[in-house]
Amino acid sequence: MSKRVLVTAALPYANGAIHLGHLLEFIQTDVYVRARKLAGDDCVFMWADDTHGTPIQTRARREGIEPEALIARAYDEHRRDFDEFQIGYDIFYTTHSEENRKHAGAIFAAMEARGDIRTRSIAQLYCPHDQMFLPDRFVKGTCPKCKSPDQYGDNCEVCGSTYAPTDLGQPHCSICGTEPVLRDSEHLFVPLSRHEEFLRQWLRSPADGGTTIMQDSVRNYVMSWVDGGLRDWDISRDAPYFGFPIPGHPGKYFYVWFDAPIGYIAATDKWCADNGHDFDAYWKADPSDTEIVHVIGKDIVYFHCLFWPAMLHAAGYTTPSRVHVHGWLTVNGEKMSKSRGTFVLARTYLDHLPADYLRYYYAAKLGSHQEDIDLNFEDFVNRVNADLVNKAANLASRSVKFVRGKLGGTVSDLLPDAAPLVERARARLAEVEGHYREFDTARAMRSAMEVAEDFNLYLTEGAPWKLAKADPERARAICSAGIYASQVVAAMIKPVLPHWAERVESFLRLSEPLTFANAGDPLPAGHELADYETLAERIKLETTEAIIEASKESLGGAQAEAEPGEAADADYEVPELAGEIAFDQFEPIDLRVAKVLACEGVEGSKKLLRFTVDLGPLGQRTIFSGIKRSFEPESLLGKHVIVVANLAPRTMKFGVSEGMILVAGDDDPGLTMPLLDPKTSRPGERIT
Ligand code: MSP
Ligand code: ZN
Repeated sequence: MSKRVLVTAALPYANGAIHLGHLLEFIQTDVYVRARKLAGDDCVFMWADDTHGTPIQTRARREGIEPEALIARAYDEHRRDFDEFQIGYDIFYTTHSEENRKHAGAIFAAMEARGDIRTRSIAQLYCPHDQMFLPDRFVKGTCPKCKSPDQYGDNCEVCGSTYAPTDLGQPHCSICGTEPVLRDSEHLFVPLSRHEEFLRQWLRSPADGGTTIMQDSVRNYVMSWVDGGLRDWDISRDAPYFGFPIPGHPGKYFYVWFDAPIGYIAATDKWCADNGHDFDAYWKADPSDTEIVHVIGKDIVYFHCLFWPAMLHAAGYTTPSRVHVHGWLTVNGEKMSKSRGTFVLARTYLDHLPADYLRYYYAAKLGSHQEDIDLNFEDFVNRVNADLVNKAANLASRSVKFVRGKLGGTVSDLLPDAAPLVERARARLAEVEGHYREFDTARAMRSAMEVAEDFNLYLTEGAPWKLAKADPERARAICSAGIYASQVVAAMIKPVLPHWAERVESFLRLSEPLTFANAGDPLPAGHELADYETLAERIKLETTEAIIEASKESLGGAQAEAEPGEAADADYEVPELAGEIAFDQFEPIDLRVAKVLACEGVEGSKKLLRFTVDLGPLGQRTIFSGIKRSFEPESLLGKHVIVVANLAPRTMKFGVSEGMILVAGDDDPGLTMPLLDPKTSRPGERIT
């Protein structure tokens, strides 16, 4: 028997509706779980709503209801959305539960007993009108750097700088507008540095003797946070706060991010109690017996890869075996936007299209990497029509309909000339489980579509519809190959499209549900089919346009209103990569060593420097560069710099720029310039 696997997706906040960005994660998690179950693993999906914290409390207050009523409403809405999107959780629970209170208390007590909790007083902004301390995102004011008005207390959306809420000019409470005052209060902290040894070991890859699997890029930046020094983590909040009181510390509540991940444990506790399973086998087990797999977005990596494993370790719970981080969803190439209608709620999508198409599209785009994923509606329509309708459904529809309509409805053995295709299909089927285990659903979908392509071609070339009269048995054998392929494809995509697989099981009259293991053999000769049921229908761009229109309409609605989330921690930011490029896209960029012959500020410009550089055999160039605030022109004279030599010349106000000089950094001033040693580099030399 395979070992136990417990999978989680992040717990959605109970103060907002589910949107297509959330669904990227929840569909990815669901597909992973279904695939592991289909592969015979003992796998469960433990999930819940995340119900505590200031945003939920203030929203309830604004609506004039109790937080309990607000989270009950969100719970019902979330479940309806998830059920219609076929998210196959084993339990969907809530962090506002007795089980969660119990485990949060137990973990806290264990940490306190081993000296992991320290108290100290901090000064924080307090709203005298609302009588509460204000989280960073609940204070607004003028950005201390660029002076833009109406910015959040943690960072400026105009210039991007980060700061403390006390740095804001004209600060005011975002709930009532009152100017906040500074007030002292005792807080409880976890000195994370006490867990540095453990975290380093937990983060190491299995090859290094560690146990945890995460993408290398994720491991690298989490390690860099550890290397940068771990700071104390503030786990308490003052009343009024919607959450659990901290036992033994009157007036203090657990910060929502303390009890939120414990919701994974609480859900398991509830599910075990209701279904007669052994809780300890999940959360008091050795990671070599029980895999805990978390699927999360990149905004919450530091909670799951620093705080959470430290808490579990300190309190003697099973530590995670794997953290899978996915990228961010953009729609039509941009961040989801309410005004453009690309902030699409799950419900709005379901009002127009079946869940299957989005499930397929996400699966076809998601790989094991953590790059961002774009939902481009035109691409979505084309992909669904090309793959699901034209390839996979068409294969089943034409072969089943023909056998039922013209040949009495029974299949036969395949012709010998189908044997190589059958072998290829089997090989692809055998690999698909591995692709799913690596979260490489893009590969799984591609592989399934290749099976469909192979056999569609076989059907088209064999043209059984021309043989019905002259050679019906040959026609039957060719169609039987199409039917065989439909069965293989259905098994391969079953974790993504469970309803599709069910319909195939039903019209093929299979005695057992399809699995990766049983789908490889053709049906026995003489097996009788039932009538074809529609698997997919063409979709139109107009439908997706209607989704965008409807999303614009809900703009003013309270449901779609963005709530400030709990602020992310600017010290733990996941570095952004630009979109991946293929190797052959990089190759045409011609980087050359260049010697700076002249460099001076451009009169009338605050930013520009004019360079004359020598590219050796390639001659001299004039280059304008907007980096004046970072460099003294004289200091660059004679230096060997790197230029992009084959950039198309650009006409600027002050002249033509014939290349680009490479510098590093985000902001001028503060840039650095990579320089090469003049003794070992020659002007004009190519850098590869
Ligand atoms: N409540 C916390 C998680 C607690 S886990 C113990 C939370 N909730 S959330 O509702 O804001 O987000 C839930 C998940 O959805 C997160 O993993 C987040 O990264 C993901 N996404 C939210 N918007 C997203 C996109 N636009 N694209 C991809 N994933 C996105 O965070
Ligand atoms: Zn206020």
